[in-house]
Amino acid sequence: MVLKLKNISVSYANKHILKNISTSFETGEIVMVIGANGSGKSTLLKVLAGLIDYAGEIILPEGINDVSEITGYVFQNPETQIIGSTVWEDVIFGLENIGLDKREMEIRANYVLNLLELAELKDADPYYLSGGQKQRLAIASILALQPEFLLLDEVTAMLDKNGKREVVDAVVKLKEAGKGIIIATHELNLFSPYSDRCIYIDNGAVVFDGNPSDGVKLYREKVHREFTSKAV
Ligand SMILES: Nc1ncnc2c1ncn2[C@@H]1O[C@H](COP(=O)(O)OP(=O)(O)O)[C@@H](O)[C@H]1O
Ligand SMILES: [Mg+2]
Repeated sequence: MVLKLKNISVSYANKHILKNISTSFETGEIVMVIGANGSGKSTLLKVLAGLIDYAGEIILPEGINDVSEITGYVFQNPETQIIGSTVWEDVIFGLENIGLDKREMEIRANYVLNLLELAELKDADPYYLSGGQKQRLAIASILALQPEFLLLDEVTAMLDKNGKREVVDAVVKLKEAGKGIIIATHELNLFSPYSDRCIYIDNGAVVFDGNPSDGVKLYREKVHREFTSKAV
């Protein structure tokens, strides 16, 4: 499945936040979106989630009417996304909202909890989970809604080393399960070995779209240039 963006622009008041972004995303692919704070990474993910207005065109697969039907957004802080009083209930809660029957909900919940290695914690109170477990639960609950593309916004930023590792492993599993993963991140070393592509955004514009190691190198050179020019 392919999701295509054509000349996407976003403005708030008179400020141009995203400028003529054209690219595409495929299922079975991990794409890392990098760039400085405020460059527009989250805004791009929100466009893909159907959360904000934009100019330009999103070309959807046949039979899909709105981009939100095929995407699911996971936030940086899992606490804001977890609502169930047990791991199991958290996954079921989102499914009740889309009106599935009980049997179908259970099948889906078991599938996502197994995939994200949370099955043994299904009766646990999410409050007591580790950071990595919480983030995997947030991802599981979104995954249960069966999006084709997962939009992960700085999902490892608040985690310790183990938590980061757990989430990276989960992302690789999601790719193997055929999902498209679009991940906005500052953790260049963590994600670039597993990414198929890198989109580098600078001040709202895509300045690089291609091989992750080349994209990361370009970004590092720019950060380094800015740092040395400020130091003078
Ligand atoms: N709701 C909003 N209203 C006005 N400006 C916003 C809003 N959301 C984001 N911005 C601005 O858009 C720019 C890009 O933000 P964002 O997409 O969050 O960047 P990133 O995720 O790369 O840090 C920033 O300058 C930010 O201040
Ligand atoms: Mg952001």
